[in-house]
Amino acid sequence: MALITEKRTMDYSLFIAVFLVSSSVALAAERPHVVFILADDFGWNDVGYHNSEISTPNLDKLSAAGVRLENYYVQPLCTPSRNQLMTGRYQIHTGMQHQIIWPCQPYCVPLDEKLLPQWMKEAGYATHMVGKWHLGMYKKDCLPTRRGFDTYFGYLLGAEDYFTHVHCAAISALNLTRCALDLREGEEVATEYKGVYSTELFSQRASSIIKTHNSSKPLFLYVALQAVHDPLQVPERYVAPYSFIKDHNRRLYAGMVSAMDEAVGNITLALQRGGLWDNTVLVFSTDNGGQTRSGGSNWPLRGRKWSLWEGGIRGVGFVASPLLKRPGAVSRQLIHVSDWLPTLVGLAGGSTNGTKPLDGFDVWNTISNGLPSPRLELLHNIDPLYVDIAPCPGTGRPVTLAQAVSGGSRADFGFNVSIHAAIRSSNWKLLTGYPGCDVWFPRPGHNSSGSGPSRADPLKSVMLFDVEKDPEERHDLSATFPAVVEYLLGRLQQHQKSALPINFPDEDPRCDPGPTGAWGPWA
Ligand SMILES: *[C@@H]1O[C@H](CO)[C@@H](O)[C@H](O)[C@H]1NC(C)=O
Ligand SMILES: *[C@@H]1O[C@H](CO)[C@@H](O)[C@H](O)[C@H]1NC(C)=O
Ligand SMILES: *[C@@H]1O[C@H](CO)[C@@H](O)[C@H](O)[C@H]1NC(C)=O
Ligand SMILES: *[C@@H]1O[C@H](CO)[C@@H](O)[C@H](O)[C@H]1NC(C)=O
Repeated sequence: MALITEKRTMDYSLFIAVFLVSSSVALAAERPHVVFILADDFGWNDVGYHNSEISTPNLDKLSAAGVRLENYYVQPLCTPSRNQLMTGRYQIHTGMQHQIIWPCQPYCVPLDEKLLPQWMKEAGYATHMVGKWHLGMYKKDCLPTRRGFDTYFGYLLGAEDYFTHVHCAAISALNLTRCALDLREGEEVATEYKGVYSTELFSQRASSIIKTHNSSKPLFLYVALQAVHDPLQVPERYVAPYSFIKDHNRRLYAGMVSAMDEAVGNITLALQRGGLWDNTVLVFSTDNGGQTRSGGSNWPLRGRKWSLWEGGIRGVGFVASPLLKRPGAVSRQLIHVSDWLPTLVGLAGGSTNGTKPLDGFDVWNTISNGLPSPRLELLHNIDPLYVDIAPCPGTGRPVTLAQAVSGGSRADFGFNVSIHAAIRSSNWKLLTGYPGCDVWFPRPGHNSSGSGPSRADPLKSVMLFDVEKDPEERHDLSATFPAVVEYLLGRLQQHQKSALPINFPDEDPRCDPGPTGAWGPWA
């Protein structure tokens, strides 16, 4: 009897051992490669599947066979969206609720935040980044290679020349404008790519990483394209098909979009040729709404980049993958850029247990299986220092809150409604303070008889929209639904209580790379 028991125990432990080995192998094989492609300033009305005048065959095809995210939100600016992508946390929780990181500001995403590539690396992934960082670089500890990426090739600031890779910035403390190279291979300055168009440069680099990748190890590749941020620069061959577009900026911009679409196509082709595609999850997302001053369009949505109107924050995004359970579906579930961190770490088989509290949700079952989104609320932002730095068309354009909003500064349900803020809960969106440039920009090429941007009545300090029925934010319902207003102001107040103080330091003149240097860490 004792013998038999012993034998059974032995068999059982052998069985467990075999099971553990085989299941961990199976798990390793199952973990998908993750490729995240982020476009810059790509507007709602600038993708072929929203606007047939723009040609994006690759984005259209990939998303048609994947899942288009049509109720998907990003932040209204570059640094904030990238920050939330990397941390899974709202801007108020990193002290970065105000603007972007300017070239000479000595700060970066707080070093005690654990970034997405660190999670992926811990889960066993090879981690590579190509393109725009814009999450701070004043000291070496802030660089992508010190924050979880095995390799990095790209630029550290927000914008630059697409061919020379030179960024010009005013350094007010020194009373000068400095133009210097911003391109790095790892942590070293890369001087040998002058003249190579960045959309091609970055897609070639991404493709060569894929080509040389050993597919037995899961890959995390983050491609943050320069396209289609200004300056408006593009090789002529991409612009030629758009001769029918009369507006010069719009025509160049459309060409830049087509180059970007080709880049996405090339990266996808590299995944297919490398044998990785069948086990890849590819995410495509913009970082914020289009910049109407530089050829972008968010029509029919209101506002633009740098505003909390839908035109600033409702993003183009989709997931393409043979692993999706409902290919071809269109998701209208509420999803936000902060949701990618828990979603992708979840796919990687990692755990976000024991971290700082995340504001993002794992939305894989929502995207792949069509389940309701776990996200019931979305804090767009709270920024007490907000100013709109670009003029908004029309007469007497407000650039600050006090000029914009009737009612001035007052507290409602504990929340100071003169503060620039917005929150979403199911179909409701509440805005307070001055949300940013508030006009409806006309549909490009369709502004008959010179009708320019239009706007509604003077703004109020509290506005409520049913964005499901009224995505263009034309009908303020705050007077009709006071209970909803009260509830959402209370929610804003609760969020504001958890906010860190804003970190937005003065510029440090030591940032100056000098006449022959390159932008990079100085501290
Ligand atoms: C800044 O530079 C300009 C042009 O070089 C000069 O006219 C101006 O006086 C300078 N201002 C200060 C504060 O040095
Ligand atoms: C895509 O690949 C083709 C063929 O190699 C190349 O000619 C083209 O420049 C690439 N486009 C981009 C945007 O990288
Ligand atoms: C890929 O990695 C596996 C496991 O480390 C190794 O056995 C295999 O030889 C590698 N393949 C190539 C082509 O390097
Ligand atoms: C998460 O951490 C808690 C506390 O350390 C622990 O009790 C729990 O089992 C962990 N969950 C997972 C899924 O690891």
